[in-house]
Amino acid sequence: MKALVLSGGAGTRLRPITHTSAKQLVPVANKPVLFYGLESIAAAGITEVGMIVGETAEEIQEAVGDGSQFGLKVTYIPQEKPLGLAHAVLIAREYLGDDDFVMYLGDNFIVGGIADLVEEFRTNRPDAQILLTQVPDPRAFGVAELDPSGQVVGLEEKPQQPKSDLALVGVYLFTPAIHDAVRSIEPSWRGELEITHAIQHLIDASAEVRSTVIKGYWKDTGNVTDMLEVNRTVLETMERRIDGEVDEASETIGRVVIEKGVRITNSRIVGPVVIAAGSEVSDSYVGPFTSVAENCRIADSELEFSIVLRDSSIRGVGRIEASLIGRHVEVTPAPVVPSAHRFVLGDHSKVQIRS
Ligand code: DAU
Repeated sequence: MKALVLSGGAGTRLRPITHTSAKQLVPVANKPVLFYGLESIAAAGITEVGMIVGETAEEIQEAVGDGSQFGLKVTYIPQEKPLGLAHAVLIAREYLGDDDFVMYLGDNFIVGGIADLVEEFRTNRPDAQILLTQVPDPRAFGVAELDPSGQVVGLEEKPQQPKSDLALVGVYLFTPAIHDAVRSIEPSWRGELEITHAIQHLIDASAEVRSTVIKGYWKDTGNVTDMLEVNRTVLETMERRIDGEVDEASETIGRVVIEKGVRITNSRIVGPVVIAAGSEVSDSYVGPFTSVAENCRIADSELEFSIVLRDSSIRGVGRIEASLIGRHVEVTPAPVVPSAHRFVLGDHSKVQIRS
């Protein structure tokens, strides 16, 4: 069995924060979301991965390399334009050969991995197996309609009037039966060859399409609240590890990961917290559910339930909570006079001020 990982698509800088142009590299607990997917694939016993890349190919290749850091053998498959998920299957035809495969969308995060699912698929070997999850607004997803016995009877891509609240999760298990299906469909209204339509094609041809409903699913939609929540979920599963320097005046409590090259002085760190290499924390409090990426400086401040991306500094500003702070950001106190706030805010920024 192989894996086909989709990390193509156009680069986008329209997120609330421009962490990266490849959305598959958005960090969750200081690690790109794509890496969790690759780790899940390896944990499911799959080693051969075809990686679809587009405009952001360079960034993805730099991060993933040949895949050996995950125990994988990655083959890059360039996609000229993001012409759809089924188009990705089409261009991977030669790579996939006649193997079964799991198709994994690189911007999706599945809590608990996919090992059990892959096992179930290997045992039952339906023509296709899809994952579904309940979402509050299914209109942004593929949506499944099930009959009373739980059998999938219909799939629609981003319907205005969804027939259920069950969204298609971006992990699909396929036998080679999918190849005829992707060749048989036409582009949708958005000009893409939709995998949803290819699976509908299988259903119409009376092929066996199984579904599994899962919990613990996240996809980067640029929503900060969701991002903080998924960060929290992942931090809760980390094991305590202190590889950096913590001075005598400091205290680290609970699930705290302090990477090599970190310096903590006169501070209190209460987990779950992860602080990445090259960062310094002094005279500060870093509280639960906080991720601090590489090369940050936190001084004379308090930080809780927040994400700080690389190369940022927070100095002398009191308490920060439930915040997402981008790369190369500086947060400092304003001079006493004039009494005013001073900002340099990027596109789509959101600021809340206690006046
Ligand atoms: O995330 C789940 C949803 O993914 C499903 O519910 C939908 O049925 C499915 O169509 C898909 O919807 P999106 O419109 O959200 O997919 P998106 O364009 O964001 O692409 C998903 C991933 O695949 C993303 O990592 C980029 C990559 N991609 C996308 C396209 C269209 C490619 O590599 N090539 C492509 O041509």
